[in-house]
Amino acid sequence: MAIVEVRDLTKRFDGFVAVDGIDLASADGEFLVLLGPSGCGKTTLLRMIGGLEPPTGGDVLIGGNVVTDLPPRARQIAMVFQSYALYPHMSVANNIAFPLKAAKLPKAEQERRIAWAAGILGIDELLQRKPRQLSGGQRQRVALARALVREPTVFLLDEPLSNLDAQRRASARDELQGFQRRVGTTTIYVTHDQVEAMGMGDRIAVMDRGHIRQLGTPSEIYDDPADTFVATFLGSPPMNLVPTADGRELLGFRPEHFVPWHENGAMGDDWLRMPFHVHRDEYLGAERLLYGDVGEAKVVARFAANADVDYTVGVVSDFAVRRADLKRFDPETGFRLDKARR
Ligand SMILES: Nc1ncnc2c1ncn2[C@@H]1O[C@H](COP(=O)(O)OP(=O)(O)OP(=O)(O)O)[C@@H](O)[C@H]1O
Ligand SMILES: [Mg+2]
Repeated sequence: MAIVEVRDLTKRFDGFVAVDGIDLASADGEFLVLLGPSGCGKTTLLRMIGGLEPPTGGDVLIGGNVVTDLPPRARQIAMVFQSYALYPHMSVANNIAFPLKAAKLPKAEQERRIAWAAGILGIDELLQRKPRQLSGGQRQRVALARALVREPTVFLLDEPLSNLDAQRRASARDELQGFQRRVGTTTIYVTHDQVEAMGMGDRIAVMDRGHIRQLGTPSEIYDDPADTFVATFLGSPPMNLVPTADGRELLGFRPEHFVPWHENGAMGDDWLRMPFHVHRDEYLGAERLLYGDVGEAKVVARFAANADVDYTVGVVSDFAVRRADLKRFDPETGFRLDKARR
């Protein structure tokens, strides 16, 4: 197990800055997710940690040692990428054994490790098959097993579930996280899928254009976003942002915190009332979304589908947010006004 750390890590491709002076440190045994939109630099950062991409500046440390100039094989890491190339002509067992043969491990030790990894990943029955005889999820587990037998101190995983269908992804998420907990190997996991990030990460680093916008636990990122980028990247639908009358602030609130105003006195000064013009409602089985406007701003409200909510499409009704649930942002910079910047 080891802590992974990067210091002022930068990558420029012909003048284009893909990773811009990032500082980041994992905890030992942590499942750390790099989350961000396409092109924000996730893969480039991971490849630099793995030694596949030389940085333009800065350092990579693994277990406290600077490894910036070491080749991948000297870093005690295992990487699994989106296209986990298995050798098609080899059996599953031989695919898994490949790195062990390359390292000239004794045969008995090879067999012990293969049995161990196959047991952890539930692929004992598949060892004699060829990759083409496996499902996508099974291939992914074989690729993980091949990474695992090397007993790495760090796992680097780049969207390893992205070619699975939605159902398999959910169970693969569950398996992968369970397996990481069992082996306790520090894992850096790249995804652009917020559900994956929220569900699996001990912490999430939210990236945008070569920078880390925020590093925190899933609930910190969701409940206490550092800026409007994070506030609107996480959550589906995203956080609502409504400008104040003087235009000096953006008020942010989650769709589930926007509820009909009650005249009966239950809602006092601790609630902020807003006229909500509902344009459309959407029934999604477990929940219902109301789409509309508050002034010029597009706003969404979210309810449990069975909730008794009073609204009429096409009509303006008073809705409200508890003041404690409001986040205040600077409209110019996007940064939080009601939270110290870290
Ligand atoms: N070899 C390269 N040469 C030039 N530009 C590159 C190279 N590799 C990546 N880039 C650019 O660097 C930026 C970051 O790329 P990167 O692959 O790290 O993004 P990403 O966050 O992994 O995106 P995705 O979610 O689509 O995989 C992109 O704008 C990309 O076009
Ligand atoms: Mg990528």
